[in-house]
Amino acid sequence: MSSIESVMNETRVFEPAESFKAQANVKGMDGYRALCEQAEKDYEGFWAGLARELLVWKKPFTKVLDESNAPFYKWFDDGEMNVSYNCLDKHLATQPNKIAIIFEADDGKVTKITYKDLYHRVCTFANGLKALGAKKGDRVIIYLPMSIEAVVAMQACARIGAIHSVVFGGFSAKSLHERITDASASLIITADGQFRGGKAMQLKPAVDDALAMGGCECVKKVVVYQRTAGETAWDAQRDVWWHDAVQGQADTCEPEWVNAEHPLFVLYTSGSTGKPKGVQHSSAGFLLHAINTMRWTFDYKDSDIFWCTADVGWITGHTYVTYGPLGIGATQLMFEGVPTYPDAGRFWKMIQDHKITTFYTAPTAIRSLIKLGADLPKQYDLSSLRLLGTVGEPINPEAWMWYYNTVGQTRCPVVDTWWQTETGGHMITPLPGVHGLKPGSCTMALPGIMAAIVDEAGHDVEKGKGGFLVIKRPWPSMIRTIYGDPERYKKNYFPEDLGGKYYLAGDGANCDLDGYFWIMGRIDDVLNVSGHRLGTMEIESALVANPLVAEAAVVGKPHDIKGEAVVAYVVLKGARPEGEDAKKIVADLRNWVAKEIGPIAKPDEIRFGDNLPKTRSGKIMRRLLRALAKGEEITQDVSTLENPAILEQLKEVVK
Ligand code: WT7
Repeated sequence: MSSIESVMNETRVFEPAESFKAQANVKGMDGYRALCEQAEKDYEGFWAGLARELLVWKKPFTKVLDESNAPFYKWFDDGEMNVSYNCLDKHLATQPNKIAIIFEADDGKVTKITYKDLYHRVCTFANGLKALGAKKGDRVIIYLPMSIEAVVAMQACARIGAIHSVVFGGFSAKSLHERITDASASLIITADGQFRGGKAMQLKPAVDDALAMGGCECVKKVVVYQRTAGETAWDAQRDVWWHDAVQGQADTCEPEWVNAEHPLFVLYTSGSTGKPKGVQHSSAGFLLHAINTMRWTFDYKDSDIFWCTADVGWITGHTYVTYGPLGIGATQLMFEGVPTYPDAGRFWKMIQDHKITTFYTAPTAIRSLIKLGADLPKQYDLSSLRLLGTVGEPINPEAWMWYYNTVGQTRCPVVDTWWQTETGGHMITPLPGVHGLKPGSCTMALPGIMAAIVDEAGHDVEKGKGGFLVIKRPWPSMIRTIYGDPERYKKNYFPEDLGGKYYLAGDGANCDLDGYFWIMGRIDDVLNVSGHRLGTMEIESALVANPLVAEAAVVGKPHDIKGEAVVAYVVLKGARPEGEDAKKIVADLRNWVAKEIGPIAKPDEIRFGDNLPKTRSGKIMRRLLRALAKGEEITQDVSTLENPAILEQLKEVVK
């Protein structure tokens, strides 16, 4: 909290240039205030107006917000539409030959696909899925690398009303298994492998391993896109090549018209228990916000070339790769590889080569790009850029300033967008033609988003005082439930202590005297490592599943590049290891966590103790562990501690 308080002393304000403001979709504070007032005066009318303007309806809705079964809210519930129709067919009359996706492969090969071609690709694949037995309401797991095919697979599911659940390619077989069984998926779409940094890596073996773990009788077929063309283990009963699945299929496919509330997807994310939550989103409300934020936050213009660097395995990739850009009819870039290959100038070269106008990435990526070469952007022509964005974690003012000065050449507003897997799209963010920017602040809530900061009892706190970030009214793109666990949804997001009506984001925040929001980080046991959400309990369960481990506690500590690093305190069943022994066990445990969850969850540091610091009632004192991780002297009262001597042991990091 001390670092955020120093951040809040930030006095620099960067006002939008008059020239930007003049062309912006939302113009100036007046434009912003007018929209906010409209939403306050007639909340339902405000959202209904946007839904009529931005979506094509097969059957128009007559009801707007249904709160009768709160907090299970429904939006536009008697309307019918199809998300894929709204992303593809809608554009066929006006811009069939506009490029929808520019795909740059790891090796630099560029493929471009028009809206018309993409439409046919999606229809053909949708027909292929139907031929394999997929139908409305089925859950389909997508485990694919960044590719046009990933977008085609997601859109094809939307087209037939199947509910996709994309699993990030960096997750392990075990994580994949957990998601397949939780969703009881009937179909999996994957690839033989993927290219990253000049190397081919296999992907399908993780699917084979997951299915071999048992309990996956639900899965009938596995569709495999051939990307690396290496050797692939094959189950002739179950596995189908993508190219065979589309063979002979018609290239048009009548969309499945679904209710506005029909689930579009389930995306798993970490919470404060060991088990990831399946965040379920709707069709119409989700797409509405995706399109509208493209227009407001990214100030979308027809001539833009948009690049969001997120993988489709995360919510950012869902909203700002697969749905938002296509829904609004944009040309966007998709990238298969990594920012460091063939060299650290890759991102800047791609911005130059593809004349990117709008660039959206994570603070962790910005910090690592600074480290790789703070002056590198100057070697490239970045004059096409007009807007920059960040997402995923708080951005430190130094990184913000570098992004603004060196990448944006002081010409481009930086939109620091605060949102979550659960919110579906941006919630608190500057509008580029409106807000004066304060480095490190995500500024103000979007019109129609009733963000506030409250205390433990749900009462508004004074400006300048920190508290819990809540959203006071339901909004169209909000989470609908946790798949298969409505009780957890209710308890987790609408706690009774706050009155049961406010959406609790799980972040601590502060609102300064100018009404600017500052996010202070999670208030629960969730870490944010390189913009990825990880539950401490999830990593702890993975560690204790190892036969050597008796007990484990995981905390975060500040990290220059990743934002937060994972520190694990481990008690072995045997003696506390030392020297080479300790080193070997650390390596083994890190690999173990990579296998249990995925490489992103590997502890950065492991420390061994004969025990963990506990109170007399046996509760682990995480507060102490966090202080130890930061290398702070323990000044707090440790008199309630059962075993104070442990603290000395836990200071030692195995190097
Ligand atoms: C958590 C949500 C939203 C897509 C990527 C992450 C943190 C997100 C910001 C920001 C400060 C941010 C919050 C939030 N977060 N954006 N601009 N400033 N913190 O989605 O994995 O669901 O994580 O990321 O702590 O609760 P997610």
